[in-house]
Amino acid sequence: MITAMYFSPTKTTKKTTEAIAAAIGEYGSVDLTNPFARKMKYMYGEGDVLVLGYPVYGGRIPEVILEVLGKLSGEGTIAVVAGVYGNRAYEDALIEGYDLLTERGFKVIAAGAFLGEHSYTDKVATARPDEEDLAVAAEFGKQIRQKIEAGYLEAPEIPGNRPYKKGMPEMPFVPQVKETCSGCGACVKVCPVQAIDKKDPRKTNENCILCCACIKKCTRNAKYFDAAPIDRIVTMLETNCTDRKEPELFI
Ligand SMILES: Cc1cc2nc3c(=O)[nH]c(=O)nc-3n(C[C@H](O)[C@H](O)[C@H](O)COP(=O)(O)O)c2cc1C
Repeated sequence: MITAMYFSPTKTTKKTTEAIAAAIGEYGSVDLTNPFARKMKYMYGEGDVLVLGYPVYGGRIPEVILEVLGKLSGEGTIAVVAGVYGNRAYEDALIEGYDLLTERGFKVIAAGAFLGEHSYTDKVATARPDEEDLAVAAEFGKQIRQKIEAGYLEAPEIPGNRPYKKGMPEMPFVPQVKETCSGCGACVKVCPVQAIDKKDPRKTNENCILCCACIKKCTRNAKYFDAAPIDRIVTMLETNCTDRKEPELFI
């Protein structure tokens, strides 16, 4: 069984992970963006293949999925790591995924750093993954399938440092809401941490992980951050991170 497992608030990781898995073979998905899916324990056997995709947050794996990933178990299960980042840097995110899976009984035979439109600004990595990115993801999946068929299951060299860099700093902000909010609740459904009040979607609590799913989902552009540290990050990204980066494959 081939599984595409991903966490993907704004869907770029979902697209990338599923493109890789589809090129390996027929697959099923586990969407860890859904809070209920994160309550389960996932176990895989020897003949299975796990493609694990996550967005890079602060150069690391998003903290919100560490608990469910910590409960994964494999029995020599073949695994692939896909980190999707917003054209700044992926830093230790791939090596962290490699270590996490290896410690839990998986055999990581490939890893890739892919690009996705930045959660905080659509001016960085705009509309990525695009067709070219998805073609690279599919080609990567094909190479993985060939590697499995050849029975060559060595791990590649994966970039990153140990100990890993420090993760995201505390950012005690939640999205603000403009008058244009109609209270439709579309944001409630996409919030991966149930931080938005069902009865009054204008209210967001401190569980917010700043993933921007609600901001990107809102068709009325009613949600936004009003916080100087986030404005500074956006300015830095739009100033320094607009040159197109390409996916990097390790296989
Ligand atoms: C909290 C947070 C931290 C992020 N940190 C990084 C980072 O360190 N480097 C980077 O290039 N992109 C970073 N991004 C951008 C995301 O990795 C990127 O937009 C990704 O495509 C989002 O995946 P998704 O569409 O599956 O949610 C960050 C985004 C968020 C929300």
